[in-house]
Amino acid sequence: MKPLHSLERKLLSSLAMDGGGLLEDVALKADMTIDQARRAVEWLRSKGIVEVGTTTRYKIEIGDEGRRAVEHGLPERRMVEVLKKLGGEAELHELSKAFDSSKEFSAAFGHARAKGWIGTVSIGDKVFVKILTPDQISPEESLLKKFIAKKELFLDELPEEEKKAVGRLIKRPDYFMKRPVKTIDIMLTELGRKTAETIKEVKEIDSLTPELIISGRWREHRLRPFDVEAVAPTIYPGKKHPLQRFIDEVREAFISLGFEEIVGPVIQPAFWNFDALFVPQDHPARDMQDTFYISKIKEAKIGSQDLIERVSRVHIDGGDTGSRGWGYDWRLDEAKRLVLRTHTTAVTVKYLADNKVSEAKVFSIDKVFRNEKLDTKHLAELHQIEGIVVGRKVTLRDLMGVLNEFYKILGLKKVKFWPTYFPYTEPSLQSIVYVEGFGWMELCGMGIFRPEVALPLGVKNPVLAWGGGLERLLMTKLHIEDIRELYENNLDWLRKVPLCL
Ligand code: PHE
Repeated sequence: MKPLHSLERKLLSSLAMDGGGLLEDVALKADMTIDQARRAVEWLRSKGIVEVGTTTRYKIEIGDEGRRAVEHGLPERRMVEVLKKLGGEAELHELSKAFDSSKEFSAAFGHARAKGWIGTVSIGDKVFVKILTPDQISPEESLLKKFIAKKELFLDELPEEEKKAVGRLIKRPDYFMKRPVKTIDIMLTELGRKTAETIKEVKEIDSLTPELIISGRWREHRLRPFDVEAVAPTIYPGKKHPLQRFIDEVREAFISLGFEEIVGPVIQPAFWNFDALFVPQDHPARDMQDTFYISKIKEAKIGSQDLIERVSRVHIDGGDTGSRGWGYDWRLDEAKRLVLRTHTTAVTVKYLADNKVSEAKVFSIDKVFRNEKLDTKHLAELHQIEGIVVGRKVTLRDLMGVLNEFYKILGLKKVKFWPTYFPYTEPSLQSIVYVEGFGWMELCGMGIFRPEVALPLGVKNPVLAWGGGLERLLMTKLHIEDIRELYENNLDWLRKVPLCL
């Protein structure tokens, strides 16, 4: 048997005496507030100790006219009384004078006649009223009497005749109102009866007080164990969006590997998004299809004269990097066009140009934009996880090692790499990871920056670089099939998505 709360014990002991009743009555008998009783009933119900039924009852409340009738009698009764005083018979006009208003008089007259208490006779042009059945008590009157002691009654408490009288009195203005109320009936079950027997013997205490300890009286009682499985309301406290939580987790992973975070502007000149990365100006990725260009304005100053010169040379003939370049006419105007960055590699490459480091470990987690058709796997606005390692002797093996470690922190242990192509890295790799319950998925592009990229920026040591989407990785963790769900702010989903994955 599950432990019982003191409120449950109290209610149960009281119920054991008469087996149940209306919630209000049960609460009263158990000497509890309605709220306490309601809680105790709910707990007892979940344990099968009580059964709860709800019924609709009709409450009759009395109005102002009704009250008047309780105090002074119904107008028709008053009419009979007046007639009695006048000797049992009176002329209509005379009779009306005994009433406050003609309205009251006509009500009294009408109802008294309908009840058969009075009758009329016309003599000449005069009408006389006389008593027919003076002492008959109507159901209306016996009903009204009940209100002397009470303010309200329930329809189902009344005998059939009085129920009908309620119907008639409701039709008269301000007499009665009928209101439906839901009532809760509580009944002790068989199990409840047995439980009630057993709790009689044991004395239980709910809280251990200093007094109980000092006096040693705690020994005589049994301490009520906490019921950790008791029903409790579900609450949804405010919490971070799962996407933001994952960003924090990825950030934490890089920091734990000794990386530093860098940030850069969302709007970049094509120079940093493409040219500095040795992406030729006629490359299809620069096409309107993939890139959001900002119309009308251009970047005035994209870098030092010297830097622009070196980057443009690399495109034209390779400059002094040992490359032959792309061999086309590089245009400054094209490099000045502004774009919503299509990858965060624009940020790492600018970092290299600004700092000319010989050693570095930096990362960025930020938004990028692509002119994609939205579907279950594609967003036009997404996050990328980007990073670089610069060092004297770093190799492709180190690159794979760093990513292996990073994925391991995120709980992804099976990682594979294979060769691919990017205009700015050589060699270039693609990584795929195995996600439990999902399968293999592409995650990240990477490689070692080509001399055409690193040398014009003034970086001589090898630069290991990688970048990949963040949302896709999160999709697999949250087991969602449509990437757009992450941005829909569906409250129900947000409430239910677990904090720990
Ligand atoms: N910028 C590439 C992308 O957006 C990823 C990448 C970054 C590849 C760095 C190589 C080096 O997919």
